[in-house]
Amino acid sequence: MSISNNKQNNNAPIGFVDSGVGGLTVLEKVRKILPCEDFIYYGDTIHTPYGDKTKEQLLEYTDEIFNFFEKKGCKAVVMACNTTSSTIYDDIKNKYNFEIYPIVQSAAIILSQLPIKRLGVFATHGTIKSQSYPREIAKYNKNMEVFGQYCPDWVHIVENSLINDEKSIKIVENDLKTMMKNNPEKIVLGCTHYPFLLGVLTKFAPKEMFIDPAVDFAEFIKKDLTDKRLINNSTTEGIGEFYVSANPSLFRTSAELFYKLNKEPQLLTFNNSSKTVLVG
Ligand code: DGL
Repeated sequence: MSISNNKQNNNAPIGFVDSGVGGLTVLEKVRKILPCEDFIYYGDTIHTPYGDKTKEQLLEYTDEIFNFFEKKGCKAVVMACNTTSSTIYDDIKNKYNFEIYPIVQSAAIILSQLPIKRLGVFATHGTIKSQSYPREIAKYNKNMEVFGQYCPDWVHIVENSLINDEKSIKIVENDLKTMMKNNPEKIVLGCTHYPFLLGVLTKFAPKEMFIDPAVDFAEFIKKDLTDKRLINNSTTEGIGEFYVSANPSLFRTSAELFYKLNKEPQLLTFNNSSKTVLVG
């Protein structure tokens, strides 16, 4: 029996995955330049935040979700999550029957070309610990100093629609103050949840200071799909399906700033979804 190859079916959907609503900041940009693509979005909200999970846990969750994408016949999957791109991409990159696009590795190519010497990165604990941004950027540019800062509360603020609370604004302001002490010329929002906080960040620093890597990431995905002749040849708007592993109604509310869902996402969990062990 021959195994069908999803990578050859240009009209198959594209999968998007993140721990929650963060990946919508990537989906939004991909939809703008590839509006005819069908897509399937999975927000693993039962396991949010990914930034505090072990590598073994992230491998387990991702394997379940990628098997689901494989069953759905996806031609490509976008790792719209810096944490999994940073910690497990190398372990899984050849394991599945579709193209895999990790945000950090793709964004680093473009970031390395910035005409600056000092680049700050706001990201999750997992991404900072992995050193993925300095490592990936150094592959293309050894003259840029890349320094990271972990923002422990930001994913919680975004997932729970607390963006405009006074307490949240203070937290973001303080984290930004700490970052500014290192004199970055630009700051990368190295977690896909963080663009939700741009409105708060720009109260305290100019908009030009911040880089959302998803803009170039979306262009990278479009170019690669084009080179591989994997662009959907339909001329009508693509159809999307949304799934979460917990709290569909909260997901819909928190998503609003980036993506207006016309109904709640479907609840979909896998066998091991109840195993959540936090790093001690
Ligand atoms: N949005 C993800 C990232 O880019 C995961 C954030 C989290 O769940 O900690 O890293």
